[in-house]
Amino acid sequence: MAGTAHPTVPAAEQAAADQARTDAVEAALAKLDLDTKTRLLAGQDMWSLPALPEIGLASVVMSDGPIGVRGVRWTADDPSVALPSPTALAATWDPELARRAGRLLAQEARRKGVHVLLAPTVNLHRTPLGGRHFECYSEDPYLTGLIGTGYVRGVQEGGVGTTVKHFVGNDAETDRFTVDNAIAPRPLRELYLAPFEAIVENAHPWGVMTAYNKVNGTTMTEHRYLVNEVLRGEWGFDGVNVSDWMAARSTTGDLAGGLDVAMPGPQTVYGPALAAAVRAGEADEAEVDTAVRNVLRLAARVGALEGAPPVVAEPPAALDGEALARELAARSFVLVRNEGEALPLTPGGTVALLGAAARDARVLGGGSATVFPARVVSPLDGLAAALPDGALTFAVGADPSDELAPADQGFELRAVCRDAAGNLLGEGSLPSGQVQWIGDDLPAGVSYATLADVEVTGTFVPRESGEHAFGTRGLGAFTLTVDGTELWDGVQLMGDEADPFEAFFGAPSERARLHLTAGVPVEVSLRHQAPDLSEVPLKALMFSLLHLGPRQDPDALIAEAVAAARAADTAVVVVATTERVESEGFDRTDLRLPGRQDDLVRAVAAANPNTVVVVNAGSPVELPWREEVAAVLLSWFPGQEGGAALADVLLGDAEPGGRLPTTWPVALADAPVTEAVPTEGRLEYAEGLFIGYRAWDRTGTAPAYSFGHGLGYTTWAYESLEVTATTARVRIRNTGGRPGREVVQLYAAPVGDPVARPARWLAAFAGVEAGPGESAEVEIPLPARTFEIWDEEAYAWTRIPGAYEIQAARSLADTRLTARIDVA
Ligand code: BGC
Repeated sequence: MAGTAHPTVPAAEQAAADQARTDAVEAALAKLDLDTKTRLLAGQDMWSLPALPEIGLASVVMSDGPIGVRGVRWTADDPSVALPSPTALAATWDPELARRAGRLLAQEARRKGVHVLLAPTVNLHRTPLGGRHFECYSEDPYLTGLIGTGYVRGVQEGGVGTTVKHFVGNDAETDRFTVDNAIAPRPLRELYLAPFEAIVENAHPWGVMTAYNKVNGTTMTEHRYLVNEVLRGEWGFDGVNVSDWMAARSTTGDLAGGLDVAMPGPQTVYGPALAAAVRAGEADEAEVDTAVRNVLRLAARVGALEGAPPVVAEPPAALDGEALARELAARSFVLVRNEGEALPLTPGGTVALLGAAARDARVLGGGSATVFPARVVSPLDGLAAALPDGALTFAVGADPSDELAPADQGFELRAVCRDAAGNLLGEGSLPSGQVQWIGDDLPAGVSYATLADVEVTGTFVPRESGEHAFGTRGLGAFTLTVDGTELWDGVQLMGDEADPFEAFFGAPSERARLHLTAGVPVEVSLRHQAPDLSEVPLKALMFSLLHLGPRQDPDALIAEAVAAARAADTAVVVVATTERVESEGFDRTDLRLPGRQDDLVRAVAAANPNTVVVVNAGSPVELPWREEVAAVLLSWFPGQEGGAALADVLLGDAEPGGRLPTTWPVALADAPVTEAVPTEGRLEYAEGLFIGYRAWDRTGTAPAYSFGHGLGYTTWAYESLEVTATTARVRIRNTGGRPGREVVQLYAAPVGDPVARPARWLAAFAGVEAGPGESAEVEIPLPARTFEIWDEEAYAWTRIPGAYEIQAARSLADTRLTARIDVA
């Protein structure tokens, strides 16, 4: 059982533990009959595998996802620490920090009884339109692989498994269940598979998740070549292969394709269907055994198989989740522009904080990565706590969304469940107006067999006086009552564009408007007649009570913000995307900031030259005013402590430590790859190797901000660079007035390239800290892969000898020193 590698356990001890696990797995397997074996390969419900007490096997529990551990329930009852978005984690360019994030997540998983975290997401930023761009790390496979390695190590050092996902080619969301991504061998190996390969080699993940999509004609859950030959065969992966949720679609194809576990259950293509296929001679029982071994090995590693020593017997020392979330956020913020040292703010000045997202912070992206933190520190909370009384004013300025959204601010809601006779069955708490019960995740006492009616009910205390709109999302019969008046009673039927996730991602429907008074509570109720789900295999109850506060004249809002900006020393505008812009389930159609936010920034910048814009978005957005403002700080989706970290960074208590993990275009039209929509089911990765900066280098168009860019609060001189074919030694000096951390980036550029390659690529990097005036020297190994390509003819990684220029750079656009080497 090679590959369980735990860095703090001596090799001999590890080998003995591996052997003990192998023995326990074999002993357990020998006791299982075919039906039990195939049952173990299928989810028993949304998140777990069946327990088999006869072999001492506990139920293995899995949970999303990259930035937190939701646990098996989609509610705020059992909150989770919410760390910054994966793009933010990658922006730290710090695998050790990713490792600490992983440790914290393992701690969260243990607290929630979760054995396997459904993360990290290591698909690439092929196009900025990718809906889950925020959930992936970077446009560069090397950076992605290193951050993913740190993350997986951290989680698994906490004794919790990972499923590196989505293997492979799930780089966009459009038609994700069916799209056939046509990817040539070189880009497949050199770009899309590379992070998975690096993580398998360096972090030995205990799991992967195979994607919905096809690659080159074969569905990934059935991809024998990529799973059995490449992942397991060439790379030596010995973990479990779990399908993405509902991705497994062929009993025999999946088994032959190396899929171990079909999720979720209970209705899957494995279980009884697989046992029947074996009995009919259509599937091979030896392959079933292989899959069962993989599952049992996972169980042994996480401590769910009696008699097998878990990889981690004692969990590591506890981490402070809030402190880590705050540190990580500050380390991820990327200062892309800072004219006249506008940041950090001069102490003692006044600040006008502007923008709806400054008050209602957007801390995470949408979809399965959603968790419910116990608290959220908004920019307004963070700055109010950090600045002296009277130094801060706030104005909304512009709202990024004029759509109804799940009832949230000012609402205290719960879900009341009744049977057909109107008897109370049970009640569940609700984080917002969104009911999202998947599988058996129902409030205590409630079952699908008895449930007839769900009422979202509670009070609403409006923040503003005026006309409030209420609405619904979801299918079925609804009755909406506010303040004792029935406002709507009707049925929402499935539209023409029937989408199974309509109730989750679909468009909101406005049902009524009502004048309400600020501070005066009203009763609200949305009754929903539950559909009969008793016969439906994958049970889910999803609908929402939606709300939209009074719409004010957008020009008046901007004028109010401008007045506040004029009266303050500094204007800080927080602009943001919304969950309808960045989420799982769909791709973006443009990169614009929604609503009147661009107008707001321009108007504020015209009124106050000291305008700082904070961009609260998980992936690139167009910033057409960027040269008109003093400073631009990208804060990503900063997690629950985002506002506290923002105060730290704006006031100079922390340096904005991030560097761009992906290129930010001036405009969508400039982005080299914008095709995310398949044609007749096929999405051609026609750009080959040229995604991200590899493509920008080729077109020569200047982006808004280059890969690797990020200013920090001090300045750096690059003093010397010495390079061999295996290592680079770089000396830098902190030439500014405060301590800082520089990310020294090394790019390799072939001189007179004998094979078609990008002009250069990231070869290695290192974080270096130095105090003011101090110099620091760092030795950075150059991975062998730097000088290799995937040779399709030889079917092997092949070294390309010749001359290379090694560039020591602050970003792709800011090379400081170069050295030439000859690689043999
Ligand atoms: C997502 C996965 C996720 C799974 C379980 C799927 O729709 O693609 O990333 O882990 O759901 O929530």
